[in-house]
Amino acid sequence: MKTMKSVCIYSYGDPSVLKYQDAPQPHPREGEVLVRVHAAGINPVDWKIREGHLKEMLHHTFPLVLGWDVSGVVEALGSGVSRLKLGDEVFSRPDISRDGAYAEFIVIKESEVALKPTTIDHIHAAALPLAGLTAWQTLFDAGGLVTGQRVLIHAGAGGVGHLAVQLAKWKGAEVITTASAHNHDFLRKLGADQIVDYKTVRFEEAVKPVDIVLDTMGGDIQERSWKVLKPGGILISIVSPPPSEIAAKHGVRQAFVFIQPNAAQLAEIAKLVDTEKLKAIVETVLPLSDATRAQELSERGHTRGKIVLRVI
Ligand SMILES: NC(=O)c1ccc[n+]([C@@H]2O[C@H](COP(=O)([O-])OP(=O)(O)OC[C@H]3O[C@@H](n4cnc5c(N)ncnc54)[C@H](OP(=O)(O)O)[C@@H]3O)[C@@H](O)[C@H]2O)c1
Repeated sequence: MKTMKSVCIYSYGDPSVLKYQDAPQPHPREGEVLVRVHAAGINPVDWKIREGHLKEMLHHTFPLVLGWDVSGVVEALGSGVSRLKLGDEVFSRPDISRDGAYAEFIVIKESEVALKPTTIDHIHAAALPLAGLTAWQTLFDAGGLVTGQRVLIHAGAGGVGHLAVQLAKWKGAEVITTASAHNHDFLRKLGADQIVDYKTVRFEEAVKPVDIVLDTMGGDIQERSWKVLKPGGILISIVSPPPSEIAAKHGVRQAFVFIQPNAAQLAEIAKLVDTEKLKAIVETVLPLSDATRAQELSERGHTRGKIVLRVI
């Protein structure tokens, strides 16, 4: 039996439940590909799942390999795979109900895999799928963002935020975002038009009405966001469903988005990267064996851009 290095959990809990160990290499079945992982992106959902927050929704079994952002090379093909071939350099946000990418190999459905951007390395490609698809599916699918609209993106310096700022700019929107002062230059360079220092200013007092709010924080920030929407505008959350009765009271719409794998959208994202319209910023790179440290850093909630595990 071939083995591989991986980072698994055998129970829910704090970072100490993460185990760096040898595990059996998975095999691709019909419609699936085996990908040799070069890099795996870290996302808050990784430690939320580790802590058991999504257990009612996802029904994972143990041992579970965490991590659902990957860039690597196609190493083997299951039967019926026709679009991809051996040696293709690919990236993916695979199905979150299955084993993830904190490992030397992962099996992914072909339908969830796209060719990675050719102009960036695997480390940067692994930073893109989950956060990039989230930004795409919130702004464009749920929000229907069009040129000339105004959008407020909370936490613009984070994994989702820094890609959402660039995608909204590319679409021709006026982009307003929130961040602490040390991230303002960073966000200006990514194209933000107005940046509110959430530590010293209440955003609802500084932001003129917007068409779309992208809520990446929930709680009090979501509650205060109703006030900045134009009539008929939309509050889109990726953290907790905004109550529809409150939306109705404000004369606006609401949506909750839980990102879905989408190879066609990943291919669009790759095209934007290769034409220099979108870039992934990677703040920290750590080896696979340091997944615990990577999750601890992510959990602090102040990552600029992304944290990525180097596997090769
Ligand atoms: N529903 C879905 O499908 C989906 C998909 C992706 C992510 N999510 C969720 O969305 C949330 C954000 O994800 P992420 O990957 O972007 O997180 P992240 O990268 O960890 O976000 C970190 C950023 O948040 C900023 N921040 C912290 N507190 C803030 C505040 N009060 N106001 C404004 N900015 C603040 C920090 O900037 P400063 O250092 O300047 O404070 C930092 O840059 C997470 O809860 C994640 O689980 C959901």
